[in-house]
Amino acid sequence: MILVVGGQGMLGTDLLALLGERGRGVDLPEIDITDIRSVQKVLTTLKPHLVVNCAAYTDVDGCEANAETAMQVNGEGVAFLALVTRDIGATLVQVSTDYVFDGGKGQPYRENDPPQPLNIYGESKLAGELNTDINPDHLLVRTQWLYGLHGKNFVETMLRLGREKERLAVVDDQIGAPTWTVDLARGIVALLDAGCRGTYHIANSGATSWNGFARAIFEESGMAVQVDPMTTEQLNRPARRPLHSTLDCGRLVADTGFTPQPWREALKRYLNLRAKE
Ligand SMILES: NC(=O)c1ccc[n+]([C@@H]2O[C@H](COP(=O)([O-])OP(=O)(O)OC[C@H]3O[C@@H](n4cnc5c(N)ncnc54)[C@H](OP(=O)(O)O)[C@@H]3O)[C@@H](O)[C@H]2O)c1
Repeated sequence: MILVVGGQGMLGTDLLALLGERGRGVDLPEIDITDIRSVQKVLTTLKPHLVVNCAAYTDVDGCEANAETAMQVNGEGVAFLALVTRDIGATLVQVSTDYVFDGGKGQPYRENDPPQPLNIYGESKLAGELNTDINPDHLLVRTQWLYGLHGKNFVETMLRLGREKERLAVVDDQIGAPTWTVDLARGIVALLDAGCRGTYHIANSGATSWNGFARAIFEESGMAVQVDPMTTEQLNRPARRPLHSTLDCGRLVADTGFTPQPWREALKRYLNLRAKE
């Protein structure tokens, strides 16, 4: 059985839907990854052969004010999962982020590029990456700019703001690939089915800015909202963000044959699905 920790989150829910009978979800309060006794109890009771950790403290600006919690959940929590999965002979799949990079490379990041986080969230996720090594039988998947039906995300924020306002300013100097959690889940399952271990990047293909993403959301939704450019500096959020953090997914494609669809195709499919919900 594949245990999905953080099974009620945005990625966890879509991953469980894809896994069907192979998967079982756990989340707070059934498991608290910051408590090793809780991790031991759940894992020794359920005896999964594989654990996918989708649990995290994902509020990037919130992490700046709550660094201790960020390190406990995103760093130490992964160490506990790695220790216990190693002890029970299970594989650990850890999900990480483009925010471990500083965005200064000027090209898509490869799996072995040196991490250099700019914010507490990135530092805590990097601590989690390093702790994943405690279990040598692991798969580390970095992804970025997630949206999906089962969590707070940029698409939902834009659709809400677009209903309230005719004109918005959105940053146009951060570049990445918006990624649908369904495509990320497909990529993770492709890696598992191919028996892959080590580090992989998974994101929808292509790249845009948050501003370009916002314009695409309104165009595909038939909403007449004017999207003005603004800089990251003007937005002045608590956490610094990498400016160009697209991920090279070549290793995923080479080792599994799975190519994530272009980000705009994924967005269209997401919006269609959302309209039917
Ligand atoms: N969202 C993005 O744009 C993005 C980008 C790059 C990478 N990632 C990574 O992708 C993964 C999935 O992200 P997501 O957006 O799907 O996350 P999410 O929707 O925030 O889901 C995280 C889940 O983990 C649970 N959780 C939090 N603390 C926990 C704890 N101590 N023990 C057990 N469960 C706990 C949360 O429960 P509560 O809701 O009750 O707190 C929630 O159900 C994470 O590793 C994240 O770092 C996300």
